[in-house]
Amino acid sequence: MSQDLKDPARRSLLKGIGAVAAAGTTATLLPGCGRRVHSGNLGFAEIPHTLDAQHHLPEGYRADILLRWGDPLTTDAGKFAPTALSAQEQRQRFGYNNDFIAFMPLPGEAGGAAGDSTRGLLCVNHEYTQPHLMFPGYDDEYAATRGVSAEHVAIEQEACGHSIVEVEKTAKGWRPVVDSPFNRRITLHTTMDIIGPAAGDPRLQTAADPSGTRVLGTVGNCAGGKTPWGTVLIAEEGFGGAFQGDPGAIADPVERLNHAAFAIAPHNRNWGDHDRRFDIGIEPREPNRFGWMVEIDPYDPHSRPRKLTSLGRFQHEGFTLVCKPHQPAVAYGGDDDEDQFVYRFVSAENYRPGNDTRNRNLLAAGVLYVARFSDDGTGAWLPLVFGEGPLTPQNGFRNQADVLIDARRAAALVGATPMDRPEDVETNPVNDCTYVMLTKNKSRTAGETNAANPRPRNVAGHVLEIVPPGEDGNRDHTSNDFRWYTFLLGGNPNAEDPRERGAYGEEVIGAVSPHGWLANPDNVAFDPGGNMWIATDGCERFGFHDGLWAMATEGEFRAAPRHFFGCPRGAEACGPEFTPDGTTLFISVQHPADGGRSTFDRPMHRWPDYDPALPPRPAVLAIRREDGGVVGS
Ligand code: FEO
Ligand code: CA
Ligand code: CA
Repeated sequence: MSQDLKDPARRSLLKGIGAVAAAGTTATLLPGCGRRVHSGNLGFAEIPHTLDAQHHLPEGYRADILLRWGDPLTTDAGKFAPTALSAQEQRQRFGYNNDFIAFMPLPGEAGGAAGDSTRGLLCVNHEYTQPHLMFPGYDDEYAATRGVSAEHVAIEQEACGHSIVEVEKTAKGWRPVVDSPFNRRITLHTTMDIIGPAAGDPRLQTAADPSGTRVLGTVGNCAGGKTPWGTVLIAEEGFGGAFQGDPGAIADPVERLNHAAFAIAPHNRNWGDHDRRFDIGIEPREPNRFGWMVEIDPYDPHSRPRKLTSLGRFQHEGFTLVCKPHQPAVAYGGDDDEDQFVYRFVSAENYRPGNDTRNRNLLAAGVLYVARFSDDGTGAWLPLVFGEGPLTPQNGFRNQADVLIDARRAAALVGATPMDRPEDVETNPVNDCTYVMLTKNKSRTAGETNAANPRPRNVAGHVLEIVPPGEDGNRDHTSNDFRWYTFLLGGNPNAEDPRERGAYGEEVIGAVSPHGWLANPDNVAFDPGGNMWIATDGCERFGFHDGLWAMATEGEFRAAPRHFFGCPRGAEACGPEFTPDGTTLFISVQHPADGGRSTFDRPMHRWPDYDPALPPRPAVLAIRREDGGVVGS
């Protein structure tokens, strides 16, 4: 049965959700995207909310510890000894703080076609480094941030970025294929092209690159996406923290504002002491070469990654694609910062199945839009095009390069809705609706709430559902109009403080178990059946581990989370990714044992090795059912 999304009665009810939630009464959340029941089939035994030094799985599941920081990608690299690590050696090892994961299939042993679920390339982001947990001798995080040695900076710069590792499923479980010709590290020293409308602009030119089209490396690689033409997209999120210096001392007022907006400050980590391009006093334009989406071809280990300026410059969480034959490619993404925006890109050319030579240029040209969420449940995509509306020289924009480099300022000027920290934005391939993870926003005041961001001091985050026009399962993602619904409000449904009270599916209020509620949604994935899997970052504030929760997006159990995975203390869960057949779920455990006074010398715990000679290590797990069945069913 299909909902009539144009029903005015529904509109007024939807409008009420925000108001009700803001007032603190338990909200009932209406289904938004069709009622086809396809995903009430989650059959695992839920795990409890806990907080300890272990990871946790439902009964009947196992997790292979597939890749840990320092694991060798080549035989030459040898056994990992963090106290004897060099930068050159780190370049041959799995990086630090794994985040986004893409599983890119390879033909299996039996000569199977692409789509194989037993062999593939695991493409993994390494978001940032934490020298106080990586190396001995630092008293705390601050000491390591401000006083890191030149030798350690060099290792850090090789430990961030991205890893491409061939992995295979054997009788004993998943394992990396050491010495695979596909294995590759992408670091802060990998040469990349800058392409699209801002490439070559004077604001991207530096002493080392007067062309403004070549940059060394990538940083802050948080989430990302995959394309149907066999590439991965990786985000540059918190790049500002890599740069030191005082934006107030920059002569150009545009760059002064720009650098301050990305939290570049004198007290940031001291990489600039040892690598001058990270000191804005010396190279004030280098930060403009970061904050983009990067496209990588993992199947060609010699390919040069490309920074895509068409997708705008901000704290990218990621971009995920919707590609329909002979229609423009559409990509959705978020800017992960308080009061920042949700974006959409629509390519100029159409996606042509089978013509990957042409498809590879789809993300180079098109229009970037930003979302306005109106209180009546409608929404609009507003184009960021130089010369249109306020995006003119009167407001400091010289050309389209300026609009893209200063996308945040452009988005605010055109009237986009400031959101509660947009993280992953991804489309459910089964119902064709798009879901926005909003992790939190402690700065929002009562006077700044609206229907799409209904809670002041939003500490628990929420999830919105974007419904483009069209039929359930076949919607028009190129339309500039959409409807939106509140999918869930994070938090305990029984919380005393109304501002922290969670709200879940209409028909399951009271049926969400004491362990089924979640907070701080960050990454999202959909299994082949269309179930939503949310990874969280922030639940320890509520007394339990971050982890994974699974739920239907339609039918009786819509927005009724069940708790599937728990991280060891200090860690957040990132990058959930299924094999095409749904029998393996990869998950990143990032920054285990982080927090308080935990350091290399005095760690909170030593997950996953529990070896007194090793510090805690970020790691990727491969989770399977012991009977080999589809995960979650
Ligand atoms: Fe890196 Fe937005 O979490
Ligand atoms: Ca994230
Ligand atoms: Ca996060």
